[in-house]
Amino acid sequence: MEFTKYLLYAIVFTMLTASSSATGTVGINYGRIANNLPSPPQVVQLLTAQGITKVKLYDADAAVLSALSNSNISVTVALPNDLLSSAAAAQSFTDTWIQSNILPYHPHTLFDAIAVGNEVFSDPQNTTQYLIAAMNNVHSSLLKYDVASTIKVTSPLALSALQTSYPSSSGSFKPDLIEPVIKPMLDFLNRTGSYLMVNAYPFFAYIANSDTISLDYALLRNNSGNLDPNNGIVYKSLFEAQIDAVFAAMSATGHGGVPIVVSETGWPSIGDSNENGANTENAAAYNGNLVRRVLTGGGTPLRPDLPLNVYLFALFNENQKPGPTSERNYGLFYPNEEKVYDIPLTPAALNSTAEINNGSKSQVAAPPPASGQTWCVANDKAGEVKLQQALDYACGEGGADCRPIQPDATCYDPDTLVAHASYAFNSYYQKNERGSGSCYFGGAAYVVTQPPQFGSCKYPTGY
Ligand SMILES: *[C@@H]1O[C@H](CO)[C@@H](O)[C@H](O)[C@H]1NC(C)=O
Ligand SMILES: *[C@@H]1O[C@H](CO)[C@@H](O)[C@H](O)[C@H]1NC(C)=O
Ligand SMILES: *[C@@H]1O[C@H](CO)[C@@H](O)[C@H](O)[C@H]1NC(C)=O
Ligand SMILES: *[C@@H]1O[C@H](CO)[C@@H](O)[C@H](O)[C@H]1NC(C)=O
Ligand SMILES: *[C@@H]1O[C@H](CO)[C@@H](O)[C@H](O)[C@H]1NC(C)=O
Ligand SMILES: *[C@@H]1O[C@H](CO)[C@@H](O)[C@H](O)[C@H]1NC(C)=O
Repeated sequence: MEFTKYLLYAIVFTMLTASSSATGTVGINYGRIANNLPSPPQVVQLLTAQGITKVKLYDADAAVLSALSNSNISVTVALPNDLLSSAAAAQSFTDTWIQSNILPYHPHTLFDAIAVGNEVFSDPQNTTQYLIAAMNNVHSSLLKYDVASTIKVTSPLALSALQTSYPSSSGSFKPDLIEPVIKPMLDFLNRTGSYLMVNAYPFFAYIANSDTISLDYALLRNNSGNLDPNNGIVYKSLFEAQIDAVFAAMSATGHGGVPIVVSETGWPSIGDSNENGANTENAAAYNGNLVRRVLTGGGTPLRPDLPLNVYLFALFNENQKPGPTSERNYGLFYPNEEKVYDIPLTPAALNSTAEINNGSKSQVAAPPPASGQTWCVANDKAGEVKLQQALDYACGEGGADCRPIQPDATCYDPDTLVAHASYAFNSYYQKNERGSGSCYFGGAAYVVTQPPQFGSCKYPTGY
């Protein structure tokens, strides 16, 4: 009897602790401001192949929602800012919107949430005044059609909604937003069991303050951390400090219990000359370390029991986005579906990354690569012709050191095109100091954060 009771406690305790350190989820934003992207069914295949189970859209595109049908990928759709005033004006509008954009696809397409507007407080069209009424009407429509229990209503906020974000514990919202919109929105999210969405970009804080913010801190690499003097917490990453600033701001309005989902975060692989730190190496480090942080479990210091759920920005480089060069280069994939850089996106991929690291599985929860080193390797899906052309270029005009891949030299074995091209691409990449675009070769190459493994060949990290 006692033993059974003990066992029961043990099981319940295990379940509780397991859920309290629950691992977060990694989704991805599928933005489509481009004229060269694959078709939606091809994109769904790509997502499935990568093990991605959550995707977020900026609209409710019919072709995309059809393609997601029966995919087991759940989706957050958006009611865009330019519909907010109509959505606020009458529930008949949101009824029709739900009828056309949700009901035809539900339940074969899995809907997680409707994002009502995007970064509304910084919308130049001043749509803030419509937000609360629009969220209420969307929710009323979901109730009317009996789908409100599975589909949440939320709205992604930009960090510019904060008046103070440093140190995190003094996080506060802009005073003029609090009474008219922040409090009613958080009340709504609490009442409906929903969550706040937050777009968080350590990249922007870093480029604006690279004299004071260390790159390791911004990229979630090993670093000495930053002390929050009010509560003694030492933040190991700017990302966590940013999210906790929002939690602190929510607590200050009495809404500390509302969860956060990070609706966008990312790092560009190319930028303009004034966009310090935008390069492939940093993008791979930021996104790779972030995924590792999310999948190894636990929340931020202020909410250690809440899993960190994030949507990376973004799936593709989007060639028609306006603004600085970085805006068009946040993608994990090129439009031809080749990787801009290779990072694990799933627990299984994270495990095998650790395996490549070490050969034993004992390092599953290992910290991110402390060195921050990156290498360049050939993409085996690029095809023989493209790889051979790129190899010829790298060893010729490109000036790569290709002596080690000559017959009888140290890196001739394994004698495969992918291994030889990888050696040459990496040499070129390192000689060019891992600069933007130096590991591209028309999509035949990508950056990795673990040393390449080809026979006993050692890949240099500098010349
Ligand atoms: C669907 O995805 C969920 C996680 O998002 C997973 O637990 C479940 O096993 C998947 N089902 C199928 C049939 O793949
Ligand atoms: C935006 O709308 C709010 C609420 O109607 C108003 O108080 C504010 O002055 C407007 N701001 C701008 C820049 O038009
Ligand atoms: C709303 O907030 C109250 C007070 O913090 C809390 O007790 C309640 O559980 C919350 N409701 C939901 C659905 O989270
Ligand atoms: C991590 O960084 C700390 C402080 O900078 C340093 O003391 C420590 O040796 C580093 N650990 C690793 C594994 O590099
Ligand atoms: C990762 O590896 C650990 C330890 O070997 C194992 O328990 C776990 O099931 C693996 N997870 C996945 C998703 O493969
Ligand atoms: C792998 O890591 C484990 C634990 O840190 C260590 O004991 C082992 O020697 C490592 N193996 C190799 C091949 O480096």
